[in-house]
Amino acid sequence: MKRLKLGVLGSGRGSNFVALAAAVAEGKVAAEFVVVGSDQADAKILEEAKNREIPTLVCPNGKYRTKLEEEIEEGLAEQMVKSGVELLILAGYMRVVKRPLLSRFGGAMINIHPSLLPAFPGLRAWEQAWKAGVKETGCTVHWVNEVVDGGSVIRQIRVPVEVGDSAETLHGRIQKAEHCLLPEVVRDLAEGRIPWLKDPRKK
Ligand code: GAR
Repeated sequence: MKRLKLGVLGSGRGSNFVALAAAVAEGKVAAEFVVVGSDQADAKILEEAKNREIPTLVCPNGKYRTKLEEEIEEGLAEQMVKSGVELLILAGYMRVVKRPLLSRFGGAMINIHPSLLPAFPGLRAWEQAWKAGVKETGCTVHWVNEVVDGGSVIRQIRVPVEVGDSAETLHGRIQKAEHCLLPEVVRDLAEGRIPWLKDPRKK
């Protein structure tokens, strides 16, 4: 089977990338990483990619905190295209995605989010759930569109909130579930077992 070409964007630790990279290395996911990018030059995810000899790129921060400037995102999107990315994965990427990435990767871009969407979109979703006192939360992989955390849900895992949990212990449990969910979804997209909104391999 031809391997699906993956691009990853992340702003932080990269534990989801590491889990996915392990599944790829073990032959569980028919895919290969063509590039890992970040808006943070010192993000651990870049170091994790370099350790695995995967090409990396960093884009400038720009003047906004929550989104990239249009020209910067344009450059990032062009580099992703040049690298041959077929599926773009947002794994802890903390910028709102705009037209430059959406016009090229809409229908072929997924995000992992630490709640059962549509509940608790936005930042620190585990803390939102913990503060709201829900008994159950979880994680979601969804298609990315122009609505923040609003694209259609692909798959979710439920995670219980336990007595005595802090926001951090809850996040730890959610992350364990994320590390199963993301590789499973990418495996099934690569094998065509999950329908794509727009599969770039079928032109
Ligand atoms: C993950 O929990 C991911 O769901 C979350 O950031 C964390 C990144 O961890 N993403 C969001 O909140 C996006 N809205 P990682 O860098 O260790 O993979």
